[in-house]
Amino acid sequence: MNDLYNEAKAFIEQYYVENEKDGVEERLSGVKEEINAHGTYTHTYDELVFGAKLAWRNSNRCIGRLFWNSLHVFDEREASTEEDVFNALERHLEFASNEGRIRPTITVFRPSKPGEPDIRLWNHQLLRYAGYKEDGGYIGDPHSIDFTKKCEELGWSGKKTDFDLLPFVVGIGDNEPKWKSIKEELVLEVELRHPDFPWFGDLGLKWYGVPIISDMELKIGGISYKAAPFNGWYMETEMGARNLADVERYNLLPKVASCMGLDTSRASTLWKDKALIELNIAVLHSFKEDGVSVVDHHTAAQQFRLFEDNEERAGREVTGDWTWLIPPVSPATTHIFHKAYDNTWKSTNYFYQDKPY
Ligand code: ARG
Repeated sequence: MNDLYNEAKAFIEQYYVENEKDGVEERLSGVKEEINAHGTYTHTYDELVFGAKLAWRNSNRCIGRLFWNSLHVFDEREASTEEDVFNALERHLEFASNEGRIRPTITVFRPSKPGEPDIRLWNHQLLRYAGYKEDGGYIGDPHSIDFTKKCEELGWSGKKTDFDLLPFVVGIGDNEPKWKSIKEELVLEVELRHPDFPWFGDLGLKWYGVPIISDMELKIGGISYKAAPFNGWYMETEMGARNLADVERYNLLPKVASCMGLDTSRASTLWKDKALIELNIAVLHSFKEDGVSVVDHHTAAQQFRLFEDNEERAGREVTGDWTWLIPPVSPATTHIFHKAYDNTWKSTNYFYQDKPY
């Protein structure tokens, strides 16, 4: 209880200082009373908004933090049924997608409270492609294999293409989780083509436009929000150098290289590197042509430098996880590569949590 109060106090004080608000003593005594009586306390709407933004600003692994203060927060703490949650998720998807002009958005469901069942989203991201293991090979995204199996156990079934969108899955307390297929008209997807290689479009590749992480826990001032899906927009390498390229994901480098006519018989021809760059060019080109927000890794690094400058001017230390901040393509071309970062985690943040299944 004392721990909770201390976490609460640190957060509330930071909120009052950064927002130049009066009355912190009064608020703190209210928080103390509520904790003593109920074992928890309730954030005001403004505290919730600030807390969600602060948690982003504190996310050591995120290169996109320049935009922390523009996060749009939907307060869905009143949602109590699976139906309410599905509706809120659909609203999130529509608002965040914004016909391609992606808006950084979070939807916050009710926090863990003594005596109330937790709401959990079983999806890793709200939009994600299913993965199936089929005689030796894979269909779709191998990252989704376990979750896809769960969905099938719950009665969902996919078309077994490489790009089957998984349904929303919501669990409340110990109830059997409920699932709902995602309305197609709410989903932005970008078909991938290349500005110079006409054959690239025939590979039949695509990716969804908005990455909405839905399995992390948001902690604000000691309060735990286990269902708080949030999104920014993609950096091209996330798709071009990881999701589509990793051997244990879509593993597309060999195919792209062979279509390019590269000599793949020796590592030293650097065919992987050449194919990787063209894949990333295709991603950027396609997203831009379709008017879907995306950032390249050089621009993202410059934006991160502005974030570092802003924080310094505000008298705050930037913490960071170098191993995540450097882009997977040409890392040493960015300033991030040439610096050290303090990887201490501030307690208002987004955390991994145990899977509900
Ligand atoms: N790397 C993840 C993916 O490829 C998304 C993580 C969040 N990314 C972001 N740009 N907000 O799906």
